Amino acid sequence: MTVTIVGSQLGDEGKGGVVDLYGDAADVVVRYQGGDNAGHTVVEGDEEYKLSLVPSGAVRGKVGVLGNGCVVNPETLFDEIDALKERGLEPDVRVARRAHVILPYHRVLDGIEEEVKSDSDKEVGTTGRGIGPTYEDKMGRRGIRVGDLLDPEGLREQLEYVVPQKRRLAEDVFGVETGEAFDVDSLYEQYREYGERLAEEDMAIDAGNFLADRLDAGDELMFEGAQGTLIDIDHGNYPYVTSSNPTAGGAATGSGLSPRVVGGGEIVGIVKAYLTRVGSGPLPTELGGVEGDTPGYDEQGAGENEDLAEYIREEGGEYGTVTGRPRRVGWLDVPMLRHSQRANGFTGLAVNHVDVLAGLDEVKVGHSYHLDGEEIFTIPATTERWGRCEPNFKTFDGWDDVDWSAVAEEGYDAIPENARAYLDYLSDELDTDVYAVGVGPGREETVVLNDPFE
Ligand code: IMP
Ligand code: MG
Repeated sequence: MTVTIVGSQLGDEGKGGVVDLYGDAADVVVRYQGGDNAGHTVVEGDEEYKLSLVPSGAVRGKVGVLGNGCVVNPETLFDEIDALKERGLEPDVRVARRAHVILPYHRVLDGIEEEVKSDSDKEVGTTGRGIGPTYEDKMGRRGIRVGDLLDPEGLREQLEYVVPQKRRLAEDVFGVETGEAFDVDSLYEQYREYGERLAEEDMAIDAGNFLADRLDAGDELMFEGAQGTLIDIDHGNYPYVTSSNPTAGGAATGSGLSPRVVGGGEIVGIVKAYLTRVGSGPLPTELGGVEGDTPGYDEQGAGENEDLAEYIREEGGEYGTVTGRPRRVGWLDVPMLRHSQRANGFTGLAVNHVDVLAGLDEVKVGHSYHLDGEEIFTIPATTERWGRCEPNFKTFDGWDDVDWSAVAEEGYDAIPENARAYLDYLSDELDTDVYAVGVGPGREETVVLNDPFE
């Protein structure tokens, strides 16, 4: 069977930890979208692994697959594999031949476009990894795929077609000087070598066939979503989104298995007990604000709840895994989660970071929104309208800080009563069972109510 892990909010919900928790029963862990913009943290004993591209399961000796829906920077791929090897692991990573390749000019163009947009405060706040420009080339039918790296002659021809276009775009449209990143000869040499290593290590696969064979052989598959529903290119708050489909449908199109396979398994929505956001765009339940990211920060400043935001940010370690940037912090947004539940069809929820909120007098959630004189319960389809939504808050009594490791061992009933009231509310509103509750960073610090593989 399959278990799909999807971020229900804006990314950084703690998906890596849940993949790690449930991944024990999996044989293969598959990423189906995104690239090295992800930041998945896996904690094992005293060891912490931060991965941006390689599926988290690789830390536990699972086969890791980057599906056709991914964009792959070979430099990051091999750096991460080599770093894991240096730490004594033997990662088995396969890459779809249909996945698209991030080239150095994609990164440069990502930076240029953000720079240009920043003149009018319109930058997305991307991770700068070249994700958007690579997906653009995929859709524009001029992309270079992993399979192409294994065919030097074809690779050369493609580079000769596309690189001069990119150079003109950078120089003539954006007025930026270009260097090695736009040089056909040096790109060819470098990427041909990556192709050789992929071939030598037998890493390039037809992902759909590979995964179907593994399922036929009785293997358990886990789909590891990166980013989150509200930064999905279709279902997120466009244009403040990433350029792929983190939502559950992406697990089918991005892996080569059918929606029947994905839908026939479990789909677990990962929820952080509050909300964070990296980069720009609306956040109706935001507490405080982050300079450069929060819209209107220059006029309004950080706001009256800045201390609370700061407290949660520190307790939760809310700094970008990839970029180190401070994350914007807000209360849980339930209209967002209702939207997420509909788009993904969660069969269960894993609620993380419940311990981070411990010790607060009260905990709020945005239960619904107020917009143009109406109460609404889900997210409007345009970002402009979402930006005008005022949350209607519901207030819960806070819960004490307790020995969370002991709680994790004892089970759900050991969770402080007020925290359980919060979780029960969430489960009712989304009409979905809570499968797991994260009460600390390690996978042992999780209260497990249901293992979807069982
Ligand atoms: P990109 O994916 O680098 O193009 O960035 C587009 C938007 O998605 C930006 O707002 C990023 O901050 C956000 N984003 C991308 N990856 C992640 C992630 O793993 N966690 C949280 N936000 C992300
Ligand atoms: Mg992350």
